Amino acid sequence: MKSGLPKLCLLFVLCLSLAASAGSSTKRRAWITIGDAAYRQVKTIAPDAVSIDSRQLPGDKVHAIVVDEGRLAAIAGAIHQRLGQCGGFMYHGSEAEARATLERRRGLAPTRSYRIGQRELVKSMLAGMEEQHIEATILSLSAFTNRYYRSQSGVEASNWLLSAWRELAAGRTDISVMQINHRGYPQPSVSLIIAGSDLAEESVIVGAHLDSIVGSGMSETARAPGADDDASGVASMTEALRALIGSGYRPRRTIQVIAYAAEEAGLRGSQEIARQFKQANRKVAGVLQLDMTNYKGAANDIYLITDYTNSQQNAFLAQLIATYLPRLTVGYDKCGYGCSDHASWDAQGYPASMPFESSMARDNPHIHTSRDTLANSGNQTAHALKFARLAAAYMVELSSQ
Ligand code: BES
Ligand code: ZN
Repeated sequence: MKSGLPKLCLLFVLCLSLAASAGSSTKRRAWITIGDAAYRQVKTIAPDAVSIDSRQLPGDKVHAIVVDEGRLAAIAGAIHQRLGQCGGFMYHGSEAEARATLERRRGLAPTRSYRIGQRELVKSMLAGMEEQHIEATILSLSAFTNRYYRSQSGVEASNWLLSAWRELAAGRTDISVMQINHRGYPQPSVSLIIAGSDLAEESVIVGAHLDSIVGSGMSETARAPGADDDASGVASMTEALRALIGSGYRPRRTIQVIAYAAEEAGLRGSQEIARQFKQANRKVAGVLQLDMTNYKGAANDIYLITDYTNSQQNAFLAQLIATYLPRLTVGYDKCGYGCSDHASWDAQGYPASMPFESSMARDNPHIHTSRDTLANSGNQTAHALKFARLAAAYMVELSSQ
């Protein structure tokens, strides 16, 4: 179940009113899908609840259960009280719908643990990561006139990143770097793949978007530096890659790093890629999106976006931060819509997350203007380095067990 708390709270209210309208005397059946801990709570107050199917999903086992509809309010109340979640279950009008909900995710996200087990390796990698590399990448990318998905300089920026990543991968036969061409526009996405060993058919995806835009109108010559949106994300990701490759780490799962084309045009590059993964029934252990990492607008260091993301994977990110970046503080916020490429993966049922540079209320006022420069992000890259380290820890931990 992908579900931010507010959505669950809505569900809670919905279930309460449904249950009230059903009345406690009716014996209508209801189907719900629910996590393992919540299922155990349900059994204590509704012992007749039966699990008709279950799936081991990322981070949790999920059950489809059938209950007396009159018990829904009590179930929601118990979960709310004992587990601190609102509602905590998804209501379905039929058995088929409940089963389909489980089925939708089957095979897409492989079984994997969110355990943290590579402390020595990750700590030494993080210690070797440096701001200056991030700065160099942001400056190079923001020096293109723009990186618009339809412009010549948008293609040149893609070519530049292709060469930069090829250099990082030089001499490694298990790493391939290529461009992914898209239908309908000239800018290719850029992809670097580190082949996994024994779990190679399962992927860990880290992405950022390559393109930039200005709201005032695009042309070949319009200036759209996009230093924060999203040269910063590409730069954080590239520094994580540099550390990972430099450490000689060989992942069990395949790691794929992608700089998406045409995000600003409606998540076009990432949608095409995520759809292809789904069509080919490919397994993805997790997706991390870095979109805007270098403007520190608010009090906390890293804000985890709770909508269009996977709550279990978000909890894993919070654990990674507590373990490897213990001096940083974490906040939570919502975009309110599918604001970046994580939403393309989420839409296909893959577990996605987006750690963000600021709260929404205090976001970078310069994005989508010619003033989105490194200077207007405080002429520093210390903030983006935090996200680079988080991405490196994520790649190692999720690809290794
Ligand atoms: N990086 C932005 C999204 C963003 C902006 C997140 C401000 C948080 C705060 C992204 O590149 C973007 O502009 N997205 C579009 C939507 C997309 C579907 C075209 C947007 O937010 O309008
Ligand atoms: Zn962006």
